Amino acid sequence: MPLAGGKTMKKMRVKRLLVDNFRNCQKGDWFFSGGINVLYGHNGEGKTNVIESLYFSALGCSHRTFQEDDLINSAADGMGVCVVAEKEDGGETKIVIKKSARRKSKEITVDNSKVKPRELIGQIKAAIFSPEDLKLAKSEPALRRRFIDMQIAQVNSAYCFSLARYNKILQQRNKLLAAIKERKMSVNLLEVWDDQLAKEASLILPARLKTLLKISRLTAEVYGELSGRREKAGMVYCRREDGSSEFVGEDAENSYCWYKKGLAARIKKDTENASTGLGPHRDDIFFTLDGLPLKNFASQGQQRSFVLALKIAETMIIRDECGEYPILLLDDALSELDARRRQKLIDFLSGRIQTFITLTEKNLFKDFGRAVFYRVEKGVVSEA
Ligand SMILES: Nc1ncnc2c1ncn2[C@@H]1O[C@H](COP(=O)(O)OP(=O)(O)OP(=O)(O)O)[C@@H](O)[C@H]1O
Ligand SMILES: [Mg+2]
Repeated sequence: MPLAGGKTMKKMRVKRLLVDNFRNCQKGDWFFSGGINVLYGHNGEGKTNVIESLYFSALGCSHRTFQEDDLINSAADGMGVCVVAEKEDGGETKIVIKKSARRKSKEITVDNSKVKPRELIGQIKAAIFSPEDLKLAKSEPALRRRFIDMQIAQVNSAYCFSLARYNKILQQRNKLLAAIKERKMSVNLLEVWDDQLAKEASLILPARLKTLLKISRLTAEVYGELSGRREKAGMVYCRREDGSSEFVGEDAENSYCWYKKGLAARIKKDTENASTGLGPHRDDIFFTLDGLPLKNFASQGQQRSFVLALKIAETMIIRDECGEYPILLLDDALSELDARRRQKLIDFLSGRIQTFITLTEKNLFKDFGRAVFYRVEKGVVSEA
C-alpha cells in the first residue's frame, strides 16, 4: 500500500499493560509485542476486557459502556489500569487511570502528572474495530453521521463547536415550528433561526465532504487490497429531502446560500411536521460495493471487510495528521473472512501497525507471520 506524501512512518507501541480489578482481570502486568498480538481464549475468558482496558487507557472511556462502574471487578470497590507506551523516537509515556466506586470521577495521570480527561486524548492514539461496528454498515444513518463527525472532531476542534451550535439552533427552530403550527408564534420569526442554521450547516457540510473524500479514497484502497482487487468499495454523501436539484456543497458560501434557499422553500412542510427536514442532521453516507448499496446487497464477509477497511483508513488518516499510526484493536474481526482476506489483512498490518487481535481458537488459521500469541484465561494473559 503506498504511503501518502513520502512521510516517514512512525509508530507508537504499547509495551506494557497493568490492570487492577478491571472487569474480570483482577491483577495483571503484561508485556506486548510491537507487531501483531493475538489474544486467544474461549468465550467469556476476558479477551474483550483486555481490548477494552487498552482502549480505556488511550481514550479515557469504554467503547462498550457509559457506566464506568461496570469496569470495576464485581468483587472490588475500585479499579486501575496503567499503560506504558513507547514512541519511535525513544520517548515513553505512562498513563494511569483509577476509578473508585465511591467517587464519581476517575483520576488520570500522564507521566505522574494529574490531567483532565480531555488532556488524555492524543497521548496514545487508538482505533478500534468491535463487533458493534458492523452496525455502521447495517443500521440507521445517525451512526454513520456520528462516525464521520468523530473523524473530523479528532483533528478539528472548531468542528465540535459548530456541531453543538447547530444542534442547539435546530432544537430552537423545531420548537418555534411547533409554536407556529399551533398559531402561537408568527412565521416571520423563522428567518433569524434559518439564517443561523444555514451558517452553521455551511461549515459542517464542506468539512464532512472533504473528510469523506479522504476516507472514501483510503477505504477503497484498503478494501481493494483485502479483496484482491475483486470488488470496489465506495462512499457517497447523501442529503435527504433537499427539494432542490442544484447543489454546491464544497464551499461554505455556496452552501450557506443553498441552505437558506432550501429552508425557505420548506417552511410549509416543516411547520406541518414541526421538524426541520433539511440539513446535516438528516444526511447519510451510502456505502457501496461495485456501485450497489452495501446494506442490501453485500454478504456478511463483504460487509465486515468494508467496515474493517474503514477502520484501517481511520488509522491512515491519524497517521497523516499526526505522523504516526495509532494502535489498532481488532476484537473478533476475523470471523466471517475467508482465508485469503484474513491473510491479506495480516500482511497489510504486519510491520506497520501495532495490532491486538482476538480469536477464540489459536489454530483457527495458520499464517500470522511473526505475530505473538497470548492465551487469555479467567482474565489472565499469558504468552503461549
Ligand atoms: N465488572 C466485572 N466484574 C467481574 N467480571 C466481569 C465484569 N464485567 C464483565 N465480567 C466478566 O467478563 C467476562 C466476559 O469477558 P469478555 O467479554 O472479555 O469475554 P471474551 O473473552 O471476549 O469472550 P467472547 O469470545 O465471547 O467474546 C464474562 O464472564 C463477564 O462475566
Ligand atoms: Mg469478546
